[in-house]
Amino acid sequence: MTISIGNDHAGPEYKKAIIELLESKGYTVNNYGTDTADSVDYPDFVHPVASDVNDNKVDLGILICGTANGVAMTANKYKNVRAGVCWTKEITELTRQHNNANICCIPARYTAPQQAVQIVETFLTTEFEGGRHQRRVEKINLSC
Ligand code: RB5
Repeated sequence: MTISIGNDHAGPEYKKAIIELLESKGYTVNNYGTDTADSVDYPDFVHPVASDVNDNKVDLGILICGTANGVAMTANKYKNVRAGVCWTKEITELTRQHNNANICCIPARYTAPQQAVQIVETFLTTEFEGGRHQRRVEKINLSC
C-alpha cells in the first residue's frame, strides 16, 4: 500500500512519527511535506498529495497543518478526494466508515504526536461500511 503525506511548518515532528509507523508496517510513503519549522504555505504541500489520491496513484493520503482545516479545504477541491478532519479515534473511525474518506487531515496544534499516530493507525485499518453511506457519498460531488 502506498501513502502520500504532506504537512506545513506545524507538522514536521508529527509527520516523522507517522512515517516511522508507516514504514515499520511496510507501507511505501511519498513525503511531500516540509521538514523544518520555517513558515510555509500549506496549499503548496497539499496539492501533490491530493493530486496523487485524485489520480489513484496512491491508496490514501495524510495531511497535517495547525488546525487541519486549511489542508482539508484545499484537498477537497479535487473531485475524487474526500478529506476529513480527524482529531479523535472515534471521529477517525466514522470518517472512514461513513464518509469513505481517502485523506486523513490531522490538526497538529490540537493533538499530541502519539495521538496523531493512533489516528493514522485507525484511519488505515477502518473499512468503509457502504450501504446507505455509499448513496450519501455519491451525492457529495456537484454536477456543475
Ligand atoms: C499556519 O500558521 C496555520 O495557518 C496552518 O497550519 C493551518 O492551521 C491552516 O489551516
